[in-house]
Amino acid sequence: MNSTTDTLPGDVRIEIENGVMIVRPQHTDNQLITLKNWLDTHHDFIEQNLTQYGAILFRGFQVNQPIDFEQVALGIDKELKNNYLGTSPRNAKTDYVFSASELPPYYPIPQHCEMSFLPDPPRKIFFYCQVAPQQGGETPIVDFQKVYDQMNPAIRSEFEKKGIKIIRNYNGPNTKSGFDFWKLKRWDEMFMTTDRQKATEICQANHFQYTWQANDRLRLISEQPAVRLHPKTQQKIWFNHSQVFHLAAAAIEYNKIANYQKTWRSRFYATLTNVMTFLKKNLQKTENQALHCTFLDDSEIPTRYMQHVEDMIWQNMYFVQWQKGDVIALDNFRVAHGRMPYTGEREILVAWTS
Ligand SMILES: [Fe+2]
Repeated sequence: MNSTTDTLPGDVRIEIENGVMIVRPQHTDNQLITLKNWLDTHHDFIEQNLTQYGAILFRGFQVNQPIDFEQVALGIDKELKNNYLGTSPRNAKTDYVFSASELPPYYPIPQHCEMSFLPDPPRKIFFYCQVAPQQGGETPIVDFQKVYDQMNPAIRSEFEKKGIKIIRNYNGPNTKSGFDFWKLKRWDEMFMTTDRQKATEICQANHFQYTWQANDRLRLISEQPAVRLHPKTQQKIWFNHSQVFHLAAAAIEYNKIANYQKTWRSRFYATLTNVMTFLKKNLQKTENQALHCTFLDDSEIPTRYMQHVEDMIWQNMYFVQWQKGDVIALDNFRVAHGRMPYTGEREILVAWTS
């Protein structure tokens, strides 16, 4: 384990472990107050180190409830937001704190920088462990600058030249929906309105190309470059959602997870996902898939390219093994996050900035 320790003047202890900064209390009393005071007086230190390391984990500070988490997040960045245009179902806990995902526990969440397909994605994202998972359920994080640096230059340059088109098909409030392994939430749940006009305005504001379909369905298309420059460091970062939305991505991800978890359950879901991907690919047109992505010129992104992207992602993965009360801050322009499938209880909450 690659680890260094440093004690700053003050009430916290700093350690660097596998490229992640870990901050712990020096004393056993009033840890939450200690943390809030420390954040108040170390704003520049946090900003500089979040840019340098990409991730800072605060452990052992008795962050006991969602409102504590909100205050810690506000201590790091005052510009918290509560508009969410991603795909996971989420429930509000406070003004700015939500459940990270209400997707079923067997469902893997591949690595992504939050809302990378928006013109202005969040600068920072925070996660908090209210209930630590019993089995599985880690939050893996990945430095997407390293992913960019390590990719096969030929594949990378094709992504850079061609860009990404994301296709999402949503059911609406009046849609009768049966079980669909890939189907996420409805458009009224995402836009928090059943009013088509309001939904349309949100689409326009976020540069989504929208088409209202028969049976109250909504097709959204977003276009994004595959790579962005980090706003502070100007380094090139792999910054797109292809590894989430490509039709082959779930099966590739689940094969990796089965290899990592080595459980019968994960092997079962890997097999099921592979079979369902084969069926969907052969039975449904590209534009009707619940989720898919292509290059901007509508050409398909080869599955072997997505396999390569996932290989690069997994070789840079750091698994956050949650402990109750943990808070992690991520530089969302560089460090991606995901979720391992789990069994038993698990409650991870999220907050994000402008
Ligand atoms: Fe996310």
